[in-house]
Amino acid sequence: MNTDSPNKVPATSDPRALRDAFATFTTGVTIVTTRNTEGAPFGVTVNSFNSVSLDPPLVLWSLAKTSRSLEAFQSAEHWAVHILSAEQEALSTRFARSSENKFEGIELESGIQGTPLLPLCTTRLQCRTAFRYEGGDHIIFVGQIVAFDRSDRAPLVFHGGKYAVATRKTPPLTLAPREGAPIDTRFGEEFFGYLLWRASQQFHLRMQPTLTARELTQEELFVLIPLFHKDGRSADAFCSTLADLGLGAATSAIDRLADRGLIRVETETRRLFLTARGRDEVLQVFAMTKAIESECLGQLGDWDSVSLKNLLKQFIVLTNPGLPHPWDAEETEPQA
Ligand SMILES: Cc1cc2nc3c(=O)[nH]c(=O)nc-3n(C[C@H](O)[C@H](O)[C@H](O)COP(=O)(O)O)c2cc1C
Repeated sequence: MNTDSPNKVPATSDPRALRDAFATFTTGVTIVTTRNTEGAPFGVTVNSFNSVSLDPPLVLWSLAKTSRSLEAFQSAEHWAVHILSAEQEALSTRFARSSENKFEGIELESGIQGTPLLPLCTTRLQCRTAFRYEGGDHIIFVGQIVAFDRSDRAPLVFHGGKYAVATRKTPPLTLAPREGAPIDTRFGEEFFGYLLWRASQQFHLRMQPTLTARELTQEELFVLIPLFHKDGRSADAFCSTLADLGLGAATSAIDRLADRGLIRVETETRRLFLTARGRDEVLQVFAMTKAIESECLGQLGDWDSVSLKNLLKQFIVLTNPGLPHPWDAEETEPQA
């Protein structure tokens, strides 16, 4: 280690810098719950949690001495650690604020000696207090696990003061370019455009038999789905929105769908409405494509599905040149 590093700061001189240094340690996020002696529930968002021992099964976490919940935990014989799933960011935020009604509206389960248990977590560890230690401005709680349950839900992650999701490191793809191909003409695994295109292509290839069986084209589907979310759209504005998104063949798709009685074009206003048959058709396609999606994402696993969707959403937002969202865009009439 280079002790002359220009970033070296005496540990006591700058609490903010030390906090930032701690924050480079990536953790999961937990909520620890208990009841006070009057039976009121208490809970705190905690990332100081760690496993300690398998035999006996011990865990630890620490609570700031300023916490409103300190007294409840100091006197508690039991508490439960909830390892949060990637879907539970809002719950984490709620329990990270000092408030009287953190549990409002939550359907609690009852654990050992009535310990409040939160639903839909990745893992829950019910513990009996084994030791308590002074830890500077915190109290360190060590608990012996008396019961636990776990699921495969993707965990919530905390790094650098921000929530994140975990992605597994994968071995290199087997799509590597042929040995000896000139480096700058390789459309291999490092070419992002290729990866996006190929992933999208493979997903749509799986969907194709469903669409073919229902005699629908990709363009027709992209007309039906936005109308399912909001119909009564102006045909011209809607086509222009879809054209902006690269779906230029919407006009002919609209004609075909109208001929099949799946949509209705109001003669005077040229507004588009989904018919009852059209609505039914969308529901059928939804069910089928959801099944295909579950099958594809099932191959990827729960964690990586969450990460992939999260990254794609970020990528779409960051690179959006101003395109509307086709589902709920309030189209403006194209200028004549
Ligand atoms: C991700 C995250 C992790 C946290 N970890 C801890 C922790 O380990 N110990 C702690 O005392 N506070 C921690 N906090 C802060 C507490 O959740 C926060 O101070 C909470 O308001 C305490 O609630 P209370 O005052 O009602 O007891 C964390 C907050 C967040 C957002």
